[in-house]
Amino acid sequence: MARDAVAEVRERTDIVELISSYTPLTRAGRSYKGLCPFHQEKTPSFVVFPDSQNFHCFGCGKGGDAFTFYMGQENVEFKEALQELARRAGVQLASVPTVAPEVDAHRQRLIEVNELAATFFANVLTNSAAGAPGREVAKQRGLSREMVDRFQLGYAVDSWDALLRFLTSRNVDPSLAAEAGLLQTRENGGHYDRFRGRFMFPIRDREGRVVGFGGRIVGEGQPKYLNSPQTAIFDKSALVYGLDLAKEEIRKRDQVVIVEGYMDAIAAHQFGHGNVVAAMGTALTEGQVGQVKRLSKHIVLALDADAAGQLATVRSIETMRGALDQDDIPVPDANGIIRFERKLNAEISIVHLPEGKDPDELIRRAPDSWPEVVAQAKPFLDFFIDAVSASTDPTDARAKAEAVARVAPVLQQVPDRVMLSHYVSLLAARLRLDERVVLSEVRRATLRTPASSAAAGAAPARRPARTSTEDHLMAILLAHRALCQEIVPKVQPDELSDSRNRELLRFLQDPSIPELEPMQLVAGLDDTLADHAERLLTTLEGKPEQLPGRIQHDALQTLENLGRERLAFLMRQLQGEIQAAEKSGDVAEVRALQGRIAALYVRHREFYPPPSPYFRDTRNAHPAP
Ligand code: UTP
Ligand code: MN
Repeated sequence: MARDAVAEVRERTDIVELISSYTPLTRAGRSYKGLCPFHQEKTPSFVVFPDSQNFHCFGCGKGGDAFTFYMGQENVEFKEALQELARRAGVQLASVPTVAPEVDAHRQRLIEVNELAATFFANVLTNSAAGAPGREVAKQRGLSREMVDRFQLGYAVDSWDALLRFLTSRNVDPSLAAEAGLLQTRENGGHYDRFRGRFMFPIRDREGRVVGFGGRIVGEGQPKYLNSPQTAIFDKSALVYGLDLAKEEIRKRDQVVIVEGYMDAIAAHQFGHGNVVAAMGTALTEGQVGQVKRLSKHIVLALDADAAGQLATVRSIETMRGALDQDDIPVPDANGIIRFERKLNAEISIVHLPEGKDPDELIRRAPDSWPEVVAQAKPFLDFFIDAVSASTDPTDARAKAEAVARVAPVLQQVPDRVMLSHYVSLLAARLRLDERVVLSEVRRATLRTPASSAAAGAAPARRPARTSTEDHLMAILLAHRALCQEIVPKVQPDELSDSRNRELLRFLQDPSIPELEPMQLVAGLDDTLADHAERLLTTLEGKPEQLPGRIQHDALQTLENLGRERLAFLMRQLQGEIQAAEKSGDVAEVRALQGRIAALYVRHREFYPPPSPYFRDTRNAHPAP
């Protein structure tokens, strides 16, 4: 996701307006009050805090944010609450379909049609006489039977209606198959096969569902590859070919290699390099990087040698950066490797393949040399400078100025002075310029970039601004779930005001979820939650290693702080209300509020002695019944 959609929805949702549609609210100072919609009551003890976009009921103890409220009232899951509130707020969710369940069911039908077609193509390839041209391709390309099965490769015969007839025989509505991108529609409303005479690669999403196809022409012809059109289920920019099969291996090796072609990825798998996936024939997108970096932060791009391909890659990484928020900028770390702080937080390095060779040929010719090739990956920054200067004529003054202007904004984010100096000299030498001129351009880029205030500081570890107590707690519990197994169950969901933290807690508290590395846990989360969880984990980065005892202590301490902060917050709230009631001479209201303060203290006995004088007053005035 290019941004924090949950935060955006929360920002754009007026919690007072939302809750007002369930229970009438009246203003009380900075907050609003009403009868609690979660339990039966006659006098209002339900308070909404517009400043923090939270609510709390002093009667039943329920509280949370807009999502929690909606979930509780409509009895829906977080995801559905997010979708509905996003829809109302007009926020486009990138990774969660902003659709009603019936639309989900429709997408499911489109996937089923694709899966049916995949079995048909595969069956033609392996079992029918008509599949002979496809089998010839498989043989020539050296595809093993195992890979044919694993990638469910197939063949679409050169016919206008082979698939159409098959689907019709299976009672699939042709217009549905057309919508799935498998059939073309004629002007008279009839249909014909989109893929004809092509070797078929089913394209699956991360979960292994067939969402589209790539079809390679058999022999010569145009286009060489025909892909499914953009459909409700097929979005090239968010798909990575082979990811469903490479997932485990990427995690295990903590490295993912991205190649260009389907054939390249399959060849890698065939020769035991299962952490290889393919981009979808377009420049790498942020969405694609987002998919893989969840499994490993170590991303190696193995690209064609031709210069055009290289520049396209650089451009795509640059735009990726452009798409990021202010805080989310690429930070070359001590190894000169780009990390997209907070957002992508990945190390991207690039392999320069020998001229005229693609990974497919390379791997088939010398399977064992592949790891060496991958190991030669250059950090993005070196690659970037090489690519930009290679395409710049060193006798063209204007072109040189443009080249410096392009590299400077990236260089200005190099936090290490020695490294910066290294790259400045490198760029200066390549462009035959004075180093001082390059350096001053880099400094000027600093002044121009809005993110500079954060990036200019010499501190190599830039932390995201403040971390709230509850975020800190969840970060520790997520990073050290096993160590904190006694503490995790102690956390009450109602103590957390961010509903993402509640979802995360539910997940951590779920005994059916095994002990896993934090990143593996994150990988199992829904995208919106995963982004949040990753952000939480980054807040712990750069802290020195701690002993288990210290970690548990920190967790307990943070849990306690959370309770204390919450109590203090609610207390301040009640005290404000008491003052207002005293001013207006509403004795009954003052007493009611004092009663609530007493109740709060009873509920939070662990935080004795009470910091507020109201507690004693209340007890003296109203001895407990
Ligand atoms: P290549 O032309 O390098 O294909 O395109 P390749 O995989 O090496 O193909 P072979 O070895 O000649 O069979 C790389 C990728 O770009 C996309 C496909 O995803 C392909 O795998 N592509 C290429 C298209 O989408 N359309 C095209 O016309 C060509
Ligand atoms: Mn090839």
